[in-house]
Amino acid sequence: MSFTIVEPAPARLNRSELAVPGSRPELFEKAAAGPADVIFLDLEDAVAPDDKVQARKNIIEGLNDIDWGSKTLSVRINGLDTHYMYRDVVDVLEQTGERLDLIMIPKAGTAADIYAIDMLVTQIEDAKGWQKKIGFEIIIETALGMQNVAEIAAASKRNESLHFGVADYAASTKARTTVIGGPNALYGVLTDVEEGKDRDYHWGDMWHYAVSHMVVAARANGLRPIDGPFGDFSDPDGFRAQANRAACLGCEGKWAIHPSQTAIANEVNSPSAEEVDRAKRILEAMEQAQKEGKGAVALDGRLIDIASIKQAEVMVRKAEQIAAAGG
Ligand code: COA
Ligand code: MG
Repeated sequence: MSFTIVEPAPARLNRSELAVPGSRPELFEKAAAGPADVIFLDLEDAVAPDDKVQARKNIIEGLNDIDWGSKTLSVRINGLDTHYMYRDVVDVLEQTGERLDLIMIPKAGTAADIYAIDMLVTQIEDAKGWQKKIGFEIIIETALGMQNVAEIAAASKRNESLHFGVADYAASTKARTTVIGGPNALYGVLTDVEEGKDRDYHWGDMWHYAVSHMVVAARANGLRPIDGPFGDFSDPDGFRAQANRAACLGCEGKWAIHPSQTAIANEVNSPSAEEVDRAKRILEAMEQAQKEGKGAVALDGRLIDIASIKQAEVMVRKAEQIAAAGG
């Protein structure tokens, strides 16, 4: 183990994160009543320029008046290159007390972007005498942000999660795609010519590097990596496949841009009953092994060792959080 200890962000369930445009306040109650672990009320790209001011008012009212229960609540502010951003932070924070949990920072490019918002938020919290500290969710969705992702991830003690914003990332890198977050048929491999055999074409995951790179930066800084949107909400199978790919790479949650995606994200990002059961048996077996002075033993015909303990503990803790949140 390194002498550098990675401090984990506050433990929150983040299996699903529902996007709700600030310009559609009629959706707020529905979001509050739904199964999303985290809800982000959007001031940025789902809100047209002419609606920004009204959307900000809607969000302030919604945060104050609606019973959000135990939901984690976030507001996506506008980018640092716009003149909306400072009022998004100042007005929303000053006028909503301590109900808000997180601020989502879009299109982060450098560590200084995070520093600037940290400074502003810190001043507001100090002036108000608040004890609760707002956390940051950061969207990595530009070439600059991906280049600087390690510094961005380490830029503030408020940082909790990194999110892969696939659509803006594709635009920024000029990647060839027309859908939000799905595969591209042009990204694949054609098997070699072999006599007497047909050639096969296998689709690949064009987002593999980007998601994986972000996961490393997030985990190395104790943050949650979260996969962003999948635009075709009439394709639950495609959503599930992308959510599974992201989870395989280490993401622990996924955005939902429509309520129908929320339950799938929760399901994909929850350990199954068998996985939790096996994790508990691993912990028991390793406890017994350690009593007997052994570092590695077999369970169900497979090797388990000291590294398995950590993985099993994470799994069991997550299952407890899910149970505490009502399943
Ligand atoms: N949050 C809460 N409820 C929502 C919702 C959301 N994001 N999106 C839709 N709903 C509700 C609808 O009001 C409707 O409720 P009802 O059955 O009581 O009438 C139900 O879910 C089904 O919605 P539907 O009619 O299929 O969708 P729509 O045409 O109203 O809206 C979108 C479709 C995509 C425009 C809408 O889901 C949306 O704005 N999503 C967020 C997009 C976003 O924020 N993008 C930015 C991040 S990428
Ligand atoms: Mg974006």
